[in-house]
Amino acid sequence: MSSPIQNILPPHDKQRILTGITTTGTPHLGNYVGAIRPAIEASQQADNLSFYFLADFHALIKSQEPEKIHLSSMEIAATWLALGLDTDNAVFYRQSDVPEIPELCWLLTCMAAKGLMNRAHAYKAAVQANQEASQDADFGVTMGLYSYPVLMAADILMFNADRVPVGKDQIQHVEMARDIAARFNHHFGENFTLPQAVVGDNVAVLQGLDGRKMSKSYNNTIPLFLPEKQLKKHINKIKTNLLEPGDPKDPDTSTVFQIWEAFATPEQTAEMRQAFADGIAWGEAKKRLFELVNNEIGDARERYNTLLEQPEHIEEILQQGGQKARTYSQPLLANLRQAVGIRSFTK
Ligand code: TRP
Repeated sequence: MSSPIQNILPPHDKQRILTGITTTGTPHLGNYVGAIRPAIEASQQADNLSFYFLADFHALIKSQEPEKIHLSSMEIAATWLALGLDTDNAVFYRQSDVPEIPELCWLLTCMAAKGLMNRAHAYKAAVQANQEASQDADFGVTMGLYSYPVLMAADILMFNADRVPVGKDQIQHVEMARDIAARFNHHFGENFTLPQAVVGDNVAVLQGLDGRKMSKSYNNTIPLFLPEKQLKKHINKIKTNLLEPGDPKDPDTSTVFQIWEAFATPEQTAEMRQAFADGIAWGEAKKRLFELVNNEIGDARERYNTLLEQPEHIEEILQQGGQKARTYSQPLLANLRQAVGIRSFTK
């Protein structure tokens, strides 16, 4: 038998910050800068309560490769732990260890306007690609992809998150969660906090090797915990132009500079801006970029490698996190069932 359901909602006395990472692929610098780093900083503030999770149900939308999803889950968990996530303060869990989330997803699905889903970027991009290839508009589109924003809304609303740190591309999804929550509240009473997206103000979307947004789907990433030599190699592969040493270079169109800015202090950024104006050689700029990045993540990389050798330890932390998460999700879901009319006959 499962443990008795707690019916008392824990107090909402702190700002709740929540974010998830889809478990497809290995965390890269873009994930780090856009999501992980600001999330870990937020978790260290005493007036916040952070919920961070592995979005492994979301992974199934994008990947049908079980081994990859499994490995990626472990790598992401190890990444957050290695970077100093304090799991005594933060609630750190797998989405799939909280069965209330898919159940809530259904309640929300029944509140989510189909027209709203039609406007979701990921779905629209798939339709557009089909149209360009003269295919049926919905060719290859699963219901998972189509209702992706509803599952994400369930992730967020399950814990009544106040703030959701995400990359720019995810703002729309958080707004959809707000919409769905407002509609639910309108029908069934004030059950949900309306969440707000938070995008880091310096560099929210990091550029990848080819200058486009750093993304697994573009295959242009720099994995976060590459061995030092490989990190150097990757940084050397960042696309630049043909300007020679001594030629002034434009920092604002340079991926090297953009990544620099994401890791540097404002003073270091000003210095690099000047170095670009003075015609720093691309090789030199990349060498400095490597040192800067390597400095910030070097210690964490060692902890990461150690953690990956102790998967039982990671599992134990996640199980504890899942239990903690359920002290929030179980009472809320019990209230929601009542609210929508799914109730026991015996009381
Ligand atoms: N969709 C997010 C991404 O691909 C991951 C995610 C899933 C998420 N659920 C979430 C992010 C809830 C924030 C809140 O990046």
